[in-house]
Amino acid sequence: MNNISTSNNWDTSLYEDKHAFVWQYGEDLLQLLNPQPGESILDLGCGTGQLTEKIAQAGADVWGIDSAPAMIEKARENYPHIRFDVANAANFQVDKPLDAVFSNAVLHWVKEADSAIASIHQSLKPGGRFVAEFGGKGNVLAIATALESALQGINIPTQALNPWYFPSIGEYATLLEQQGFDVIYAMLFARPTPLAEGEAGMANWIEMFASTFLAGLSGEQQIQVIRVVEEYLKPTLYQQGTWTADYRRIRIVAIKL
Ligand code: BEZ
Repeated sequence: MNNISTSNNWDTSLYEDKHAFVWQYGEDLLQLLNPQPGESILDLGCGTGQLTEKIAQAGADVWGIDSAPAMIEKARENYPHIRFDVANAANFQVDKPLDAVFSNAVLHWVKEADSAIASIHQSLKPGGRFVAEFGGKGNVLAIATALESALQGINIPTQALNPWYFPSIGEYATLLEQQGFDVIYAMLFARPTPLAEGEAGMANWIEMFASTFLAGLSGEQQIQVIRVVEEYLKPTLYQQGTWTADYRRIRIVAIKL
């Protein structure tokens, strides 16, 4: 089995072919951003650039950054007219303060939330807005619990394997307020997300997004763990030939004071 996304080394073809829902759902968030012609906007964690392009289509001056070089390479190939750079959410810098920072389905990968918020804050003009959606408290809880119990079943310690940060509204809004933001909108909601590829959907999702849980296992052990996880989750997350991931999203709009 390929270790597809370990070490930030994403398989961008697999990402674009089988996980297009990541940016398709993000289109709702664009409405919340409401980009205007001439605005300077950063797409933080732009992936392969599909939402960055939508922001550009609104007439904004948009810049996409992502920490994964493979994503940036693909984004540049997809949309050569847009500026894309490799940069990290926890320590990026801008040349000139921005009107808005937009981020879809990325900040749950950034455990140093304080550093990311500090970077976002320093990048905005006073009055500039931060519009984000990512995994919130309870996100993929059933999947993570199944992975942890399958690993514990073969005596693998799991404490250090979970790569995600899924805050509550209270926790994240507090961090934002502490760093000089006014939180004007916050929502936490369940968004059960059907996965592509029928019966293979859960295995594909785990390989793409949860590979840190499998790092260090042999190929055979990885297959075994995924089988156990599928058996465990089937009664709740598999219906009529489709797997559904138990996503819960946090959506935030905050203004720099
Ligand atoms: C999410 O979008 O919620 C998510 C994606 C991959 C791994 C974990 C969470």
